[in-house]
Amino acid sequence: MSRIVISEFMDERAVAQLGAVHDVLHDPTLVDDPARLQAEAARADVLIVRNRTQVRGELLAALGKGRIIGRLGVGLDNIDVAACEARGIVVIPATGANALSVAEYVIGTAMLLLRGAYQASADVASGAWPRNALGNGREIGGKTLGLVGFGSIGQLTAKLAQGIGMHVIAFDAVLAADHPVFAASGVRGATLDEVCARADVVSLHVPLIESTRHLFDARRIAAMKRGAVLINSARGGVLDEAAVAAALKSGQLGGAAIDVFESEPLPAGSVFAGCPNLVLTPHVAGLSAESNERVSSLIAQRVLEELR
Ligand SMILES: NC(=O)c1ccc[n+]([C@@H]2O[C@H](COP(=O)([O-])OP(=O)(O)OC[C@H]3O[C@@H](n4cnc5c(N)ncnc54)[C@H](O)[C@@H]3O)[C@@H](O)[C@H]2O)c1
Repeated sequence: MSRIVISEFMDERAVAQLGAVHDVLHDPTLVDDPARLQAEAARADVLIVRNRTQVRGELLAALGKGRIIGRLGVGLDNIDVAACEARGIVVIPATGANALSVAEYVIGTAMLLLRGAYQASADVASGAWPRNALGNGREIGGKTLGLVGFGSIGQLTAKLAQGIGMHVIAFDAVLAADHPVFAASGVRGATLDEVCARADVVSLHVPLIESTRHLFDARRIAAMKRGAVLINSARGGVLDEAAVAAALKSGQLGGAAIDVFESEPLPAGSVFAGCPNLVLTPHVAGLSAESNERVSSLIAQRVLEELR
């Protein structure tokens, strides 16, 4: 029997599945109590985390006999993967399990921001009737979606977008523009400059690594179509937040949806105060009732296989 420590929220059914065979501690408050987390990690064979537990430095050192890290999500920027590999610790991400939630977030926010008419509830309920102001929004059908990063989430987003009549172009630093995955999905492989110049909606789906830090800075945003919509559900740091705020205020960006931030939670008094046509969400693009279940059950299953 192995000791499994889960430091953030995991679906109860998946926890029970693990608990039927192993000794499990599921305590979502552990992530906020570093001393207790380290003490528990010292006795753990398996540590399961979401994106808030930083698996590096002291915590990694404390994981004396730990040999498996389960990640209830996809991005691995909160885990020192190289150090884990060097110590023979297996890192298991929930690849693909929350892709649909993120792809739906992109399509939902793109429609909302292009149309610009769905944030009028308080005005309409209070007797205002801003019909002229809101009657000139844009349709999504026929528009071009530009994807930056064409991995599992980029590809699923393309499929949903095509279903509502969008043209899709995509840039991926690893996949050449003539890679068969583009033809197979009816998406045109493009350069990053082309994506910026042509897309009405640009959506980011790259990991946060050195080459993607501030990939969308003031210069890149200035190269986008005037009035285009920018969506970041990838990682904070991939875009320059001050540049996005300035572009929304100047009208260079016609809207933006941002789910992930350089610093989370986003501190009060951020650069986004007073920006028009902006949707901010607290890192929930990949979270939904269904994806929470899929992610948790996939990690439980993979951890059980690894322990067998
Ligand atoms: N907001 C959320 O809740 C949430 C949920 C899931 C994933 N994510 C983020 O979304 C990102 C994408 O997830 P995924 O499952 O599609 O990952 P993935 O690994 O399947 O795809 C990432 C793609 O980006 C490409 N890439 C790498 N560097 C690039 C660069 N400099 N320019 C262009 N492309 C580049 C890779 O070749 C790969 O094809 C993850 O890294 C994660 O950080 C966020």
